[in-house]
Amino acid sequence: MDISFPKDATLGAVVEQLDIPSLSEEDFARIYQVFLERSVVVFKRANIDQAEHIQFSRRFGRLERTLSKRTTRPEISLLSNVTKEGRVAKPDDSLGLFLKGNRAWHSDSSFKVVGAKASMLRALEVPDEGGDTEWADMRAAWLALDKKTQEACEDLIAVHSYGYSQGLIGGTDLLKSSELEDLPPVEHPIVRVHPETGVKSLYIGRHISHIVGMSYENSQSLIAELTEAACQPPRIFRHQWDAGDIALWDNRCVLHRGHPWPFEQRRVMRRTTIAGEGDNPWAMEDREEALAIG
Ligand code: OGA
Ligand code: MN
Repeated sequence: MDISFPKDATLGAVVEQLDIPSLSEEDFARIYQVFLERSVVVFKRANIDQAEHIQFSRRFGRLERTLSKRTTRPEISLLSNVTKEGRVAKPDDSLGLFLKGNRAWHSDSSFKVVGAKASMLRALEVPDEGGDTEWADMRAAWLALDKKTQEACEDLIAVHSYGYSQGLIGGTDLLKSSELEDLPPVEHPIVRVHPETGVKSLYIGRHISHIVGMSYENSQSLIAELTEAACQPPRIFRHQWDAGDIALWDNRCVLHRGHPWPFEQRRVMRRTTIAGEGDNPWAMEDREEALAIG
């Protein structure tokens, strides 16, 4: 296993030459440590299949049940601009709009009662150009704020809502009608302490509709200012995909976004989501359920 770290960035690690299915407990412990320290780990040309993807993800914790969208099994979120019938989506059709949402900085499942612990994204087909994914370090972002701003943020509670964030763009019709009802707005503090490392970070992103007790306009301008200040070098890390690559990130302390690509080109990605800790109605508790390969 060969691990390298991007120069001048506070997050990110790139692992090469790793055979994921045969990863020993000892090497897994090393990877887990790198995940906690660097928040984003890219596995270059891992070339694993879907069953191996699910099994590797399961080593990081319980998996989260995804929203239906077009998925075929609850552990897998499809992030693909190709329809079941093999047609490439248009930028402004439902699928195109659904994917467009990912272009704004966000943390996966922050709109659920318990946000996601981690996400693991696997590239099956990538465009010739564009379509990079980028992450921003919210621990370093918190530290970079001046004392006054830190104090002003410390006790703020944000309301996160998928109906709000995706509703602004469109594409919510891909969900089953009952699903949006199962996703009422939820509250999360905008400053959180990481449950494993104890490190403080900002918890913001596109799913925030407003801050409790603040007007919509003031909330949106505060979140925009914080996001703009946060997502700057050296706190960002960007990955240009090759087919077969895997990226793993810690949603508890990074934001991410996807960059556009020539939309007539196919981009086919599949993601597992590792469930946030504690009492989490979206977590697949049953090991058999999560490991059954359909
Ligand atoms: C995701 C996501 C961005 C991308 O998988 O959760 O936001 O580049 N992806 O596909
Ligand atoms: Mn995402």
